[in-house]
Amino acid sequence: MSLVDYVIVLAAGEGTRMKSSTPKVLHSIAGRSLLGHVVSAIDTLSPAHVRVVVGSSHELVTEHLREIAPHATAVLQERRGGTGHAVQLALEGVAATGTVLVVAGDTPLLSGNTMAQLVEAHKSGSFAATVLTAEHPDPTGYGRIIRTDNGDLSRIVEERDATELEREIDEINSGVYVFDLAMLHNAIGRLSSQNAQGELYLTDVIEILRTDGGRVVPVLTPDFIEILGINDRVQLAECAALMRDQINDAFMRSGVTMIDPTTTWIDVTVEVAPDATIHPGTALSGATKIAANAVIGPRTTLVDCTVECCATVVESYCKGATIGESASVGPFTYLRPGAVLAKDSRAGAFVEMKNASLGVGSKVPHLSYVGDATIGVGTNIGAATIFVNYDGVDKHHTRVGDHVRVGSDSMLVAPVSIGDGAYTAAGSVITEDVPAGAIGVGRAKQRNVLGWVLRKRAGTSSAAAANASIEKGTSTS
Ligand code: UD1
Ligand code: CA
Repeated sequence: MSLVDYVIVLAAGEGTRMKSSTPKVLHSIAGRSLLGHVVSAIDTLSPAHVRVVVGSSHELVTEHLREIAPHATAVLQERRGGTGHAVQLALEGVAATGTVLVVAGDTPLLSGNTMAQLVEAHKSGSFAATVLTAEHPDPTGYGRIIRTDNGDLSRIVEERDATELEREIDEINSGVYVFDLAMLHNAIGRLSSQNAQGELYLTDVIEILRTDGGRVVPVLTPDFIEILGINDRVQLAECAALMRDQINDAFMRSGVTMIDPTTTWIDVTVEVAPDATIHPGTALSGATKIAANAVIGPRTTLVDCTVECCATVVESYCKGATIGESASVGPFTYLRPGAVLAKDSRAGAFVEMKNASLGVGSKVPHLSYVGDATIGVGTNIGAATIFVNYDGVDKHHTRVGDHVRVGSDSMLVAPVSIGDGAYTAAGSVITEDVPAGAIGVGRAKQRNVLGWVLRKRAGTSSAAAANASIEKGTSTS
C-alpha cells in the first residue's frame, strides 16, 4: 500500500553556488547522487506517482532519473520561478484529491522514516498541510517558522523577507511538506511574487491554506542533520562526512571493526559482514562485498570487488576483482576487472592482474604483470614475470597449469601454454608451449670474458677489487 499518492521532488534550481558544470543534484556522496539519495528514501514510502521538477541541465538529470528511478516522471521548469512555480508545474494533471509529499532534491540525509512519520502525522488529523521543521543552531538562510498561539503553523517567512525579530527564531522550514491535494490545487494558483526574490514561494501557500480555513501543523524533528540541504561544496563535504559517520556507525554496531572510522569511506551500496576489520584510509565503493573475518587496509580502495572470508588486502587498489577465501593481496597490488583469486592464493607487492584467474594456493608474490591468463593450482610465478598479452593489436591468453614453477623474470608471450608440473628457466622468453613436466629454457647462454675489467676499466675501484681477489686466490675463475 502506498503511504502517499504523489511525491514531488524539487530539483530545478541551478545550483549556482556549486560552481560546477555538473547539475547540483547529480553530485554524489557515499557513491550515490544527491537526487539518488532522495529518490531511494522516497521509495520506502512506495508512492503511486513520483514527479521530479528539473530545470538546469535537465537532459542530464532526466537521463540519470531514467536510470535510478524509471517509474518517476520528469517535469520541466524552463526558468526558475520559485518553489511555488515549480509545484504549480508539477501539479498539472495530478489527481484532484489525496495527499502529496513535497521534498527538495538536495537533502540527501533525509530518511524515508522521517518522511513516513510526517505523512502519518498528516493523516492523523484533517490538515490542509503538515510541515517538517527543525531547531537549527544556525538558522541563517532558512525560512523561519511562525507558530500560532496554539502551536499550529501560522506562516513561513523567508530569511530575506524576515524582520530582525523573526530572524531570531531558530525553528526552520525543512522544505519537506505534506499537502491535502484538493486544498493545494485550490491554493497554488493564488501565490504572488511580491517578495525579495520576485519568485513564487511555496512557503506562501501556508497562509493561503489557513485563510481558506485549513489547519497547518508543524512537525518538529529532533535531528536537524537530516534536513541539511546542499548549496555549495563545503556543505557537500559536510554532508558526506555526516553520511560516512552514519554508515560507519551502523557497520560498527553490526559487528564490523573499524580502526579509524573518520578515514574509512564506505558507499551506501557496499556490504560488509560482521567480524571484518577495516584499517585506516580505506575506501569501499560500488558493489563491493566484504565477508566475515576479512581484513582490509590500511590505505586500500576496493571498487566493485568481492572479498571472501578471512582474506587480507593491504595497501592496494582493486577494481572488479574477486578475492577468494584466505587469499592475500598486497601490499601495493593493483587488481583490475576480471582478476579472480582462488582460496589461499596470493598476489603480492607490485603485482598487477587483469582478466586473470589464480588457482587455489597459487602465488604471484612479487613485481609481476598477469594479464589475460588462467593459472592452475599450487603454481608459483617467480618475481618479475610478465604475461606478454598484447601484440600491439590484439590481446592473447596464457594458460599455466597446476604446480608449475615459472622462473623469475620470465616473459610468457601469449598465446602460450605451460603444462602441469612444468618449469621455466629464470630470464626466459617463452614463445612456445612448454609440455607437462618439461623445463622451458628461452635465454642466451652466458659467456664470461676473462680479465675484461682489468683491461677496459683499469684504475677503477672495480679493477682494484678484482686484482686483490685474484692475488688472494679467492676469484671464482
Ligand atoms: C527553501 C524554502 C525555505 C526552506 C529551505 C529549506 C522557499 C521559498 N523557501 O529555501 O523556507 O527553509 O528551502 O532548505 O521554498 N527549486 C526549483 N525551482 C525553482 C526554485 C527552486 O525546483 O524555481 C528547487 C531547488 O532545486 C531546491 C528546492 O527547490 O531543490 C529549494 O530551492 P532553494 O532555492 O534551494 O530554496 P531555499 O532558498 O533553500
Ligand atoms: Ca536549498
